Amino acid sequence: MIIANWKCNGSKKMIQDWSKHYKDTYIPFKNTFVGIAPPYIYVEQLINLINAYDLDIEIGVQDIDISSGARTGAISVDMIQDIECQFTIVGHSERRTIFDESNESVSAKIDSVGNKVETILCVGESAKENNDKETRNILEDQLSVIEGKVLPSSFSVAYEPVWAIGTGNTPTPEEINDIHKFIKDVVQSSSENSIVPNVLYGGSVNDANAESFFKQDNVNGALIGGASLQGKSFANIVNIFNGKAI
Ligand code: PGA
Repeated sequence: MIIANWKCNGSKKMIQDWSKHYKDTYIPFKNTFVGIAPPYIYVEQLINLINAYDLDIEIGVQDIDISSGARTGAISVDMIQDIECQFTIVGHSERRTIFDESNESVSAKIDSVGNKVETILCVGESAKENNDKETRNILEDQLSVIEGKVLPSSFSVAYEPVWAIGTGNTPTPEEINDIHKFIKDVVQSSSENSIVPNVLYGGSVNDANAESFFKQDNVNGALIGGASLQGKSFANIVNIFNGKAI
């Protein structure tokens, strides 16, 4: 599973160029879930281009609100389903820090999504927490939102150390592998139906380092910010995941 998180980036022109560059670089391969989460307002344009180029890409969103109705500025799960989105990211560290998102809100979002679309829950520790060797405690706290929930079998977690996002720094592949195993164990023991989730790594993944992460047993894919903004580098990463890189 390889997911692009475009954050608050993009334009009509960028999306046109992106689609062409992706098409020119991507080597077709079946059975890998490749997704893009653009800003909401570009979803429709992107879906049209993906259909026009016949690309095997699912479209999703970067966040979701907990319900429809009198919630100015919000977008609901039913709306994204209506425009054929397949997944939503929830609990990204930028939502937690810039928009003050709490564990309670993340939990309510997971409930509102249910199994209508796929959920990718982001977790990760800050630099200070990492230095203080608090990583596992922080992840346990962030994962407490799923305690007692019956999760869809497609439920995924993205491990995104905050200090690795957009910085060029990453944990070692072995460290990532160990943390992913820990995340799988925590989700399995705390979800009501003992789900073992796919765990994606996110934080400065690019086409030069992706292979080292993908070689790890417990790395089931990646959530990619900066390097996903170029169709060519994102396609390169997808090709590497599929073992098709030249
Ligand atoms: P990055 O972002 O790949 O630019 O580090 C990842 C993310 O925030 O999802």
